[in-house]
Amino acid sequence: MRTIKLLSVTAEAPAVKSFVFNDVLCSKGEPGQFVMIWIPGLDEVPMSLSTLDPKRGHAAVTVERVGEATKALHNKKAGDTIGVRGPFGNNYTVSRASKVMIVGGGTGLASLAPLAERLAKERAEITFLMGAKTRSHLLFHERIHTLLSMAKSRLIVATEDGSFGQRGLVTTSAGKLFKQGEKFRMVYTCGPERMMQKMFLLAEKFRVPFEASLERFMRCAIGLCGTCVIGKYRVCKEGPVFSGQQLYAVKDEFGRWRKGFDGRKTKV
Ligand SMILES: Cc1cc2nc3c(=O)[nH]c(=O)nc-3n(C[C@H](O)[C@H](O)[C@H](O)COP(=O)(O)OP(=O)(O)OC[C@H]3O[C@@H](n4cnc5c(N)ncnc54)[C@H](O)[C@@H]3O)c2cc1C
Ligand code: FES
Repeated sequence: MRTIKLLSVTAEAPAVKSFVFNDVLCSKGEPGQFVMIWIPGLDEVPMSLSTLDPKRGHAAVTVERVGEATKALHNKKAGDTIGVRGPFGNNYTVSRASKVMIVGGGTGLASLAPLAERLAKERAEITFLMGAKTRSHLLFHERIHTLLSMAKSRLIVATEDGSFGQRGLVTTSAGKLFKQGEKFRMVYTCGPERMMQKMFLLAEKFRVPFEASLERFMRCAIGLCGTCVIGKYRVCKEGPVFSGQQLYAVKDEFGRWRKGFDGRKTKV
């Protein structure tokens, strides 16, 4: 574990902040990889890398305040010290100049923003669908909008209350594109597991290759403790990014339940 000083802390949305830090290893991570963030004296939690800037040696995590550890992290300021292990896990598959769909909601955007940046570099044609409860909950809207306006790509926003973009669920907007006959070489998704499960079913129906980044409770993050298992996979080691084929093998669990720290099943 390395101790690092926070360079900046930025509010992104209600209860969501980004934490930028200097760490060469993290800055060289791949889109989809995650780190374990240690909050001194309290806990260690898994977080996706939301910025990868190898030129400056910077990286970031974007954190929603949900419980004790994330609340303590939200109280940190630039100059404060935290710890980092990683990057861990696999990454999204990036192929050159392909037509792809990206579907994200909530802090799932944390791993999808660097993915979009990498795909844009590879001259992909990106259809990015971004979902949120309301306009103020949209994450990285400006960042993605600016990126995609420079590439041959588009951004479609869906908010549940209709305060911005299309009204409704982002999965409905995605479904419409498939029904209109649009073809994609890959669908990437990260966000609430129910949303990812709906995208998995759409990708199955329209026979599109699919990758989703999963969350499970984690302790070791290096494949030893078994806390993060889904079916035959360890999310920290074989994941967090899984293909449609892999998810088909665990479809009784994916989008339905996960193991808590005490080993008991809880609904996702
Ligand atoms: C690979 C990976 C990447 C992640 N990336 C991000 C990210 O980029 N941004 C972000 O905000 N969060 C991310 N998470 C989720 C994050 O790790 C949890 O929200 C965090 O551990 C909660 O800690 P806490 O002590 O604040 O909350 P707790 O008090 O532990 O829990 C509060 C609530 O959050 C849920 N929760 C706790 N841990 C997890 C977990 N590992 N996965 C799913 N739900 C959990 C609990 O069920 C409970 O409802 C990621 C998780 C994984 C496994
Ligand atoms: S967190 Fe220990 S095996 Fe994945």
